Amino acid sequence: MYKLWFSLIYCISILFVHVSINCCSRNYDGSTDPQFTEKFFTQTLDHFNFNSMGNGTFNQRYLITDQYWKKGYGPIFFYTGNEGNIWDFALNSGFITELAAQQRALVIFAEHRYYGESLPFGNNSFSVPQVSLLTVEQALADYAVMITELKQQLGATDCPVIVFGGSYGGMLSVYMRIKYPNIVAGALAASAPILSTAGLGDSRQFFRDVTADFESVAPECTNAVRGAFHQLKELSERQDYSHIQAAFALCKPPSSPQDIHQLNGLLRNAFTLMAMLDYPYSTHFMGNMPANPVKVACKTMLRGLDLLVNLRDTAGIVYNATGTLTCFDLYSLYLECADPTGCGLGFDSLAWDYQACTEIELCYESNNETDMFPPMAFTKEIRRLYCSKRWAVVPRPGWLKIQFWGDALSTASNIIFSNGDLDPWANGGVRRSLSSSLTALNISGGAHHLDLRGSNEADPVSVVSARKTEADLIAQWVKMERTRLQKFV
Ligand SMILES: *[C@@H]1O[C@H](CO)[C@@H](O)[C@H](O)[C@H]1NC(C)=O
Ligand SMILES: *[C@@H]1O[C@H](CO)[C@@H](O)[C@H](O)[C@H]1NC(C)=O
Ligand SMILES: *[C@@H]1O[C@H](CO)[C@@H](O)[C@H](O)[C@H]1NC(C)=O
Ligand SMILES: *[C@@H]1O[C@H](CO)[C@@H](O)[C@H](O)[C@H]1NC(C)=O
Ligand SMILES: *[C@@H]1O[C@H](CO)[C@@H](O)[C@H](O)[C@H]1NC(C)=O
Repeated sequence: MYKLWFSLIYCISILFVHVSINCCSRNYDGSTDPQFTEKFFTQTLDHFNFNSMGNGTFNQRYLITDQYWKKGYGPIFFYTGNEGNIWDFALNSGFITELAAQQRALVIFAEHRYYGESLPFGNNSFSVPQVSLLTVEQALADYAVMITELKQQLGATDCPVIVFGGSYGGMLSVYMRIKYPNIVAGALAASAPILSTAGLGDSRQFFRDVTADFESVAPECTNAVRGAFHQLKELSERQDYSHIQAAFALCKPPSSPQDIHQLNGLLRNAFTLMAMLDYPYSTHFMGNMPANPVKVACKTMLRGLDLLVNLRDTAGIVYNATGTLTCFDLYSLYLECADPTGCGLGFDSLAWDYQACTEIELCYESNNETDMFPPMAFTKEIRRLYCSKRWAVVPRPGWLKIQFWGDALSTASNIIFSNGDLDPWANGGVRRSLSSSLTALNISGGAHHLDLRGSNEADPVSVVSARKTEADLIAQWVKMERTRLQKFV
């Protein structure tokens, strides 16, 4: 009976949605349907050394739409691409195009060098020394040069530029504003862990905050996760590898402590992703996620009496979203790297691993005390050994703090630091406003850069209000920049 009612209501609501889509403008809810054109920019290979690559260039991809732009006048909204295919960010940052429609802006999403199709040396980009041109500084210079030249080409030299970014992309937008205030009038840095990645954090913070998300759904949930990892530990101590293979539907039986370590990493990574992507509706960003994945995970963890099977099925929410996985392949579903929160897969994972081995510090551990995961250390020393072996580099802890100011940001201006309280990255970023023009926004019930996503009926009020504040501040910055530009004509 309940089910019948439910399907009836469901059908009516579907009907209603159809009617409203057919009768009204497609933008009825403020969402837009951006039509990006994919282009390539001839970019300088090495901005900082005139001999190493001479005048060598590579093709850097960017996406552009002028469909909302007041030509030659409206601002430029520039997304500082981060560690992946730029389409993934463009298709998951609807707020930027919604705001462009309101403020009549030109929108550009630029792909970060060494990611997606912006490979300076094609498939050889990840050899040494070719990989050495992958630095934060080179990426920022790419964006500065690209903005300057595209402004010329598009007749936009007087148009104020606002940069946007989420996560590492948010770090890049902060850096753009502080390194190139001549080019960039303001930055919206969503979920940007600029402090923790500069070594100004607590190595326990990340997995503690992942755990807190599950704990807040139900304390029994974290207990079940701890219990399952405890059982896995006992089985591996007894070297009962066939039992482990059966319980976790592994393609091959594990046969060493290294395999168990890999399994623990793979399982922990599923929880990491669900916490980061804990959006109130289903998404297709960094994989497919159901709505409220943390709740779904807890429901799965508490489903039956066999905790190991529950844990496998919980990991399946991430790795078996399509429902077509026949078994878990330990070494292809997850790669261990210099970022214990995950590097992703494919070429992009190599690029991120290199960045985590050089400038970006991600020394996070789990310990089964401040978090629900098995103890897995990742110290500066482990990082150093791994990175010298993998990439022939020695990481330089503290460099980002010197180069990009660490927490001593008070002389900067026009930056929004937004963070959602569900996001395990949030406490690695700026949580309190540092001045009247360095504004921190808290998004209660928000996961990883939820504010950059397009509006959705399931949005919490906090994100609706954060986006409104962001829109107002950005409009002010654009106005300020017009005044500044006029003064110096
Ligand atoms: C770089 O400059 C050299 C010397 O002027 C020239 O021969 C070469 O064609 C240039 N290469 C590129 C890629 O433009
Ligand atoms: C480069 O590698 C990708 C992914 O492995 C592959 O699809 C592509 O064909 C390769 N391109 C060349 C030119 O070898
Ligand atoms: C993946 O999901 C399908 C559908 O729910 C299920 O039948 C299958 O057993 C799952 N695969 C694994 C390896 O758990
Ligand atoms: C976590 O700690 C508890 C309590 O000390 C212990 O019984 C359990 O085996 C530990 N779990 C793991 C996976 O190490
Ligand atoms: C945001 O939340 C954090 C953590 O609860 C708190 O420390 C901070 O003061 C809050 N910041 C603002 C701007 O409300």
